[in-house]
Amino acid sequence: MTKRFEIYKCEVCGNVVQVLLDSFGELVCCNQPMKKLQVQYDTNELGEKHAPKIEHRDEKKYVNVNTHPMIAEHYIQFIEGIDSKNNELHLKYFYPEEKPEFEVSYTSDATKFIEFCNIHELWGENNN
Ligand SMILES: [Fe+2]
Repeated sequence: MTKRFEIYKCEVCGNVVQVLLDSFGELVCCNQPMKKLQVQYDTNELGEKHAPKIEHRDEKKYVNVNTHPMIAEHYIQFIEGIDSKNNELHLKYFYPEEKPEFEVSYTSDATKFIEFCNIHELWGENNN
């Protein structure tokens, strides 16, 4: 059983997929079920480093994870925002050396942001 916007990872090859529409099947990769990733929330050092943060500058709203390294071995691969009705997804990918930030002035204040680190996986905002 899969639900919209859930994220799964293959523990063999590292494939990461996100569900667009609910269904009853099981996601399989490399001949085994994919692991459903849970969004992590923590106020410890690891959590503080990974939690997406909202900043307001020049009358615009941004989400970023500027507290995290952005080197090839360890970086934020994407940040996404999902609205409170689970109807809108806002996603941006990043590469090493890029600033992990994007403007989200068009999102509602109820939008929740998560990010994916290539080592530590999924993290959410700490204000939940
Ligand atoms: Fe990390």
